[in-house]
Amino acid sequence: MSFREAELAALAARMGEQLLRQRLARERDAHLAPALPVGEVLAAHHLRGSGRAIHLVLTLCGLRGVGRRNAHAIELRQHALKLPRLPAAFEGFTLLHLSDLHIDAGERYLQALVERVQGVSCDACVLTGDFRFGTRGSSAPAIAALARLLPALPATTFAVLGNHDDLALGLGLEALGVRVLMNEAEALQRGGESMHIAGIDDAHYFRTHDLARARAGVPPDGCALLLSHTPQPYREAAAHGFAGMLCGHTHGGQICLPGGIPLLTEARAPRRLARGSWRFGTMAGYTSVGCGCSIVDARFFCPPEVTVHTLQRA
Ligand SMILES: [Fe+2]
Repeated sequence: MSFREAELAALAARMGEQLLRQRLARERDAHLAPALPVGEVLAAHHLRGSGRAIHLVLTLCGLRGVGRRNAHAIELRQHALKLPRLPAAFEGFTLLHLSDLHIDAGERYLQALVERVQGVSCDACVLTGDFRFGTRGSSAPAIAALARLLPALPATTFAVLGNHDDLALGLGLEALGVRVLMNEAEALQRGGESMHIAGIDDAHYFRTHDLARARAGVPPDGCALLLSHTPQPYREAAAHGFAGMLCGHTHGGQICLPGGIPLLTEARAPRRLARGSWRFGTMAGYTSVGCGCSIVDARFFCPPEVTVHTLQRA
């Protein structure tokens, strides 16, 4: 997709001019990438052939149907997110967290996701990236699917982009009323007090994250919760003084061994950060296993989730 000059200038002002150029170049690379890319681009997300191979193996083993049913059985999880410096007015504030939606994966999955979030009580919503099933081509099908999901979500919804998402998808989300954070922060007000939701661009494939830029919009002693697609920049997030970090990307492994042991997590981070609740120093973290699938719409020993985080003072 080509952007108007005014759109490019606005994006550069938000995420940084050099990082915008880097992202646009990598988006072109992703579209031009061969079927079996090499080096750092060699991730399971890009191995289109592996999807067909896994599909064939599951079919031959008679597991295709159960894997798909598992993928559509989305669980609602409750989690207490204990944040240092949380203003008293935000005690009990609830955040609905969806990650790795891969929302254009099919009609039955979209219906299951809409049904899962409909009627969930929460104050705001955060979406931690990977809205598309594929990594190239038009974002229009994903944006059309998001337009059907968003009426079931709170009016106050923040998002960051993942390694599957292009800037066209980000602008499409904003046209639907979602505040997409591209190395930015936004204040939330409640009871005369404020806290911040900050968000960085994808640190896994695009590497266009800028934690200092995102943190610059937060007062030095303020309580800020970071949205990142991947848990990978957890050390830098803690060093920049974020009280908490919400992320996804790993899918918890998606296809796991009994006991939920992942075969692959696709993240340069310790395995203890690959799913659920974790802590690094004083920073509280949570990695969603995601509500969707990539490569193949199947899950084993790793049910998909949407999560309600209830904020508490640490
Ligand atoms: Fe994903």
